[in-house]
Amino acid sequence: IKRKKKIVVDHARVASYAFCFDIDGVILRGPDTIPEAVEAMKLLNGHNKYNITVPSIFVTNGGGKPEHVRSEDLSKKLNCTITPEQIIQGHTPMKDLVGVYENVLVVGGLGNVCRNVAESYGFKNVYTPFDVLKWNPAVSPYHDLTDEELKCCRDVDFSKVKIDAIMVFADSRNWAADQQIILELLLSKDGIMGTQSKTFDEGPQIYFAHSDFIWATNYKLSRYGMGALQVSIAALYKEHTGKELKVNRFGKPQKGTFKFANKVLSNWRQGVLDEHLKKLSINDPNADEADILINDEGEEIINQAKLESFQGLEDSDDEEDPYKEPLAVVGNQDKITLELPPASTVYFVGDTPESDIRFANSHDVSWFSILVKTGVYQEGTVPKYKPKHLCENVLEAVQFAIEREH
Ligand code: G3P
Ligand code: MG
Repeated sequence: IKRKKKIVVDHARVASYAFCFDIDGVILRGPDTIPEAVEAMKLLNGHNKYNITVPSIFVTNGGGKPEHVRSEDLSKKLNCTITPEQIIQGHTPMKDLVGVYENVLVVGGLGNVCRNVAESYGFKNVYTPFDVLKWNPAVSPYHDLTDEELKCCRDVDFSKVKIDAIMVFADSRNWAADQQIILELLLSKDGIMGTQSKTFDEGPQIYFAHSDFIWATNYKLSRYGMGALQVSIAALYKEHTGKELKVNRFGKPQKGTFKFANKVLSNWRQGVLDEHLKKLSINDPNADEADILINDEGEEIINQAKLESFQGLEDSDDEEDPYKEPLAVVGNQDKITLELPPASTVYFVGDTPESDIRFANSHDVSWFSILVKTGVYQEGTVPKYKPKHLCENVLEAVQFAIEREH
């Protein structure tokens, strides 16, 4: 048999563009799924008239749970597989602060969840407001720890611990106690409870996972978010000290989160292509296709495992390449990978002009902002940050972008 089939990696079936989705107000409202989101995911997973798979990730300012819990929850609600590698929450980029601080107070979320998340990121000594209240209940005079809350506490002598950083990971469940503790630490000498600085510049740094003033839940009006807590803390700090509070912010629209999102998106796109490559049966001895890959220069890069079965065969090389644009292929017989250029366009679908549209418009011209009407943005109002496109819901956004690309 004289047969040696030339095949170019099928760029056409994995889109060179990509999507990035906000979650609250786009995919979910509180615990409820926005129904069009399910169909939108189907379209991205190849069920569209172009048979194209479009890589996508999620960038939410929300948090308070590990990324794998968020992805499992989304998978159920969207009836498709979403993996933790596709998820960026407000606190996810705070991973990069591991090693910078020894003792951190993590605020927000239910029970011990945020402590666990912080520890899973690699933070060493993670304390919570509950620990502080157990150490000395008089810290917040109107909150008695419940039995449930007591189970989440660790025994710590906060008169001996120097808190280096306060990290608000998720929405506070107890503004009064949390604010009391945060303010005390900000005004303290070296982050030690029970002390007071005279100069107000000896306290810990404070980080917020995001600055959303309001957000969309399953209630008909938007609710105050972590940004509102930030405003409140800064106002109390100013009232007390006469100074502006220096706040470190993560989440959308911050540049740090944008850089993080680009890294995550690029890894995810690489993964989707590798998966696609596998499907082309490159390592399948029974396959009669995908025996040779071609790089940008038109050179053939042969999969060694397959090469053996072709030794001695003549190259008929008479078939037309079915696909136009080969990707760069690098590797050896053990590993073949595609080196990806950045996404041609990243469609960012969000509901909050101040965080989502600002995020997508501010950092890279190849990002294309789409505002939907299922969350914070209200029809008839003028969005403070203007999207490149406005549509009803996430399904319309995905349909619009796919059509725009083809
Ligand atoms: O607390 C979460 C909320 O502020 C916004 O989440 O998904 O709309 O970025 P999201
Ligand atoms: Mg949102």
